[in-house]
Amino acid sequence: MSTYTFVGASAVGQLDTYEAPIPTPGDGEVLIKVDYSTLGPFDLYNLDRGFYVREYPHRFGCNAAGTIEKVGASVEELKVGDRVISFTAYPPNKGLQAYTVQTPSLVAKIPEWLSFVEGVTLPDNFVTAFYTLFNQLGLPIPTEFPSKSTPPKSTTPILIYGAGTTSGQYMVQLLNLAGYKNVIATASKQHENYLRSMGATHVFDYRSSSLVEDVIKAAGGKVELVVDCASLSNTFATISKVIAPAGTLAFLAPLKLSASLSGEDGELPVEIPEEVRAWFPKGVSVISVKTFFFQKDERLANTLVPVVLRKMIEDKLIQPNRICLVNQGDILTRVKDAFELVRSNKVSGQKVVVKVPV
Ligand SMILES: NC(=O)c1ccc[n+]([C@@H]2O[C@H](COP(=O)([O-])OP(=O)(O)OC[C@H]3O[C@@H](n4cnc5c(N)ncnc54)[C@H](OP(=O)(O)O)[C@@H]3O)[C@@H](O)[C@H]2O)c1
Repeated sequence: MSTYTFVGASAVGQLDTYEAPIPTPGDGEVLIKVDYSTLGPFDLYNLDRGFYVREYPHRFGCNAAGTIEKVGASVEELKVGDRVISFTAYPPNKGLQAYTVQTPSLVAKIPEWLSFVEGVTLPDNFVTAFYTLFNQLGLPIPTEFPSKSTPPKSTTPILIYGAGTTSGQYMVQLLNLAGYKNVIATASKQHENYLRSMGATHVFDYRSSSLVEDVIKAAGGKVELVVDCASLSNTFATISKVIAPAGTLAFLAPLKLSASLSGEDGELPVEIPEEVRAWFPKGVSVISVKTFFFQKDERLANTLVPVVLRKMIEDKLIQPNRICLVNQGDILTRVKDAFELVRSNKVSGQKVVVKVPV
């Protein structure tokens, strides 16, 4: 039996190298030979906190880019040799391993001109951004991108808090492509021009002492629609001051009750605790976004990745995140180094991409 090597967690905080048989795809599945994967905050919470870990060894990586190696029965849309990217969210079929089995609904073919290192930044946070805006926040799904019609709330201010995150960058791009003209972004100063080039109308530094006044002035009052891509105690505190009394906040769960995105020692509640809910006016709807459930939306389940994402790439509508590539040393060293980058909060506006083959 042929085997491959992968790096997984054997316990909280403990990374080890494992051997596993190369899987065979079942009916309706494909086997991807993975070249690149990513590590992000969710993987870090898995490793450092055991967050959402069901069993050990636990595998990582919510994205994969590589080549179709085998195709199971009744798969028609993909063939051996196709270059693909995949949203590899569901264990044990994660992306940070040399082989991963997926269903075609989570796989997008990519054109020759898109490199694997760029393409691998797209699936998880593109899906997150699309699902947050067009399902959780309730904006209508455009029939085409770029939208030729004007959406009902095209001039309503929409605040993307933490637009410097890799998920936030896709939210700004998707709002622009969907015809929204009043997108207020908060991010570190160095991302201002980049976010404006992707469609943000205003960009404010979230560290500025005048942030609350600046956002309210730009919006012409308190803001009806808000997405929090960082979801920290201090981002919630600021948003509570700028959100309209009957506004909607969609936040990317979990909430980090700590000062930094890595979560440190604070709790990671997925639902908003009562004492934090009390920071907001009573009429505010607070939605905890859990992208792993996006396929419950039948409009998105079988098309978002293989059709919508694929077409947006082919039409050159969506710009992949910039990358921080970890490709030195053996696979265990690379995974440890990549985790350290995420843990130290040193990566700004880039996706941490890991070269996968041993
Ligand atoms: N529930 C879900 O469905 C879901 C899906 C995706 C992500 N998430 C969660 O959402 C969070 C972001 O994920 P990601 O992958 O987009 O992260 P990421 O790209 O790794 O985020 C890094 C960025 O966070 C920004 N940031 C850090 N502290 C901030 C603060 N106080 N205010 C504003 N921005 C801050 C920094 O922006 P600057 O460079 O501008 O400083 C940095 O570039 C993570 O907690 C993740 O687990 C949840």
